[in-house]
Amino acid sequence: MASYDLVIIGSGPAGYVCAIRASQLGMKVAVVEKRATYGGTCLNIGCIPSKALLHASEMFEEAGHGLEKLGVKVGAPKLDLKAMMAHKDGTVKGNVDGVAFLFKKNKIDGVIGTGRIVAPGKVEVTPETGDKQVLEAKNIVIATGSDSTRLPGIDVDEKRIVTSTGALSLSKVPGKLLVIGAGVIGLELGSVWARLGAEVTVVEFLDRILPGMDGEVAKQFQRMLQKQGFTFKLGSKVTGVDATGKTLKVSVEPAKGGDAEQLDADVVLIAVGRVPYTEGLGLKEVGVELDERGRVKTDDHYKTTVDGIYAVGDVIVGPMLAHKGEEEGVAVAELLAGQAGHVNYNAIPGVVYTRPEVASVGKTEEELKEAGIAYVTGKFPFSANGRARAMNATDGFVKVLADAKTDRVLGAHIVGPVAGELIAELTVLIEFGGSAEDLARTCHAHPTLSEAVREAALAAGKRAIHI
Ligand code: FAD
Ligand code: NAI
Repeated sequence: MASYDLVIIGSGPAGYVCAIRASQLGMKVAVVEKRATYGGTCLNIGCIPSKALLHASEMFEEAGHGLEKLGVKVGAPKLDLKAMMAHKDGTVKGNVDGVAFLFKKNKIDGVIGTGRIVAPGKVEVTPETGDKQVLEAKNIVIATGSDSTRLPGIDVDEKRIVTSTGALSLSKVPGKLLVIGAGVIGLELGSVWARLGAEVTVVEFLDRILPGMDGEVAKQFQRMLQKQGFTFKLGSKVTGVDATGKTLKVSVEPAKGGDAEQLDADVVLIAVGRVPYTEGLGLKEVGVELDERGRVKTDDHYKTTVDGIYAVGDVIVGPMLAHKGEEEGVAVAELLAGQAGHVNYNAIPGVVYTRPEVASVGKTEEELKEAGIAYVTGKFPFSANGRARAMNATDGFVKVLADAKTDRVLGAHIVGPVAGELIAELTVLIEFGGSAEDLARTCHAHPTLSEAVREAALAAGKRAIHI
């Protein structure tokens, strides 16, 4: 029986990063993965393919509309969807091969097959073909991730009624795409297909988009998406999809009750959240408890209810984000090596990779109000930023929220060009416990978009220069 210091089940961002860190710290490590390639949801069917399509579709749209305003005439662009999908597939391959290379480099054993914990310290691996084997481990980390939430009574075929997985591989641009859920997946993948020519309608249960993000940002962003052609049906729910005819007939009702209407669609994308994935792991039998939402229960050090079994990533509490899982993977490896692994959950950025991007870190205004924390707000619009004007990308703003007494930055929210990159400096600031004044006094290169971030910090002290 092969014997290891650490066996990790799942090779997504939480699992593979944990494996590399544990190996760096001297542990003998195996990673069990049931998919044929490493990298989990993120690399195979999540972050990476979606960003490849977001970028490619943005270029397509830019060629059609944006470039002319800059004096670049290229004629009407032609879509080659097959080539776009090949770009996406190539991007995925490069990334998953990269993880396999990193396993080799770090002397990590990758084992393809489905893992099941048969006892503390023992993981049985069942490959699709061939013999089962049992791996012995001093410690086990569960990093099995999550799966798309389904809606009762609506059968997914991944062709016409799809989750994000099907929406990443449609064989043609749908005339009408109906998205259920105005969260991150709905808006990102809705954007991809809208740019390629689909008419996109988003049905959202709540009366706002992007729940959890700053309300003011979400409101402005919704207007921007509407300008791009999105139709939103907020405060509404889908009660059924009739797939018997050539066109899907979608029944939509007000969330609070009322008259139903029927909408036509060529494709329906279900994007109503994700659920932790623990199927077939044998958790109940070994005594690993789940919480009320099916997540593996852990203590602050990622230990489950059973000694020697830990869990990280989407399968435990917290935002379902790749970088959150990576941080936890590193932390648990360091804890197992006797070090002080730690994750600062206050400094985990969230980014929506649309155009413009939306990015956020720390507390929202709503959260600060609810907690009764007095704060000051500094805001700066991209329309007053020289670089944004030069780029013809002036939609949006930066908002910095600082403690009214201490000036410590508690949250930051951006909607605008490359918001996902700009948020990094605010994340570092929050990680270091920095103040708005610290940021305001830091010299920023001119002309850059990051000057808008600095100006928002200046505005928090009522001394912005350019507004
Ligand atoms: P996963 O990546 O889900 O990996 C778990 C792995 O475990 C899987 O490969 C699975 O096959 C394997 N597994 C499960 N059970 C077993 C078993 N019994 N035996 C062996 N293997 C098993 N997050 C971001 O931060 N940024 C983004 O831009 C982003 N975009 C996304 C876009 C889409 C369309 C989707 C669906 C998600 C996106 N996410 C994004 C979320 C991100 O993918 C997840 O947060 C991340 O993958 C979670 O990592 P994980 O390691 O916990 O789990
Ligand atoms: P989500 O939680 O972001 O959004 C789901 C939306 O669906 C919510 O607005 C919710 O109110 C709505 N909803 C729920 N039930 C509904 C119903 N029956 N009818 C209508 N609306 C309903 O979930 P999403 O978009 O599926 O993404 C899943 C996870 O993947 C997220 O947690 C996200 O963190 C992660 N992800 C992250 C990305 C990023 O970081 N850029 C990109 C894509 C996904």
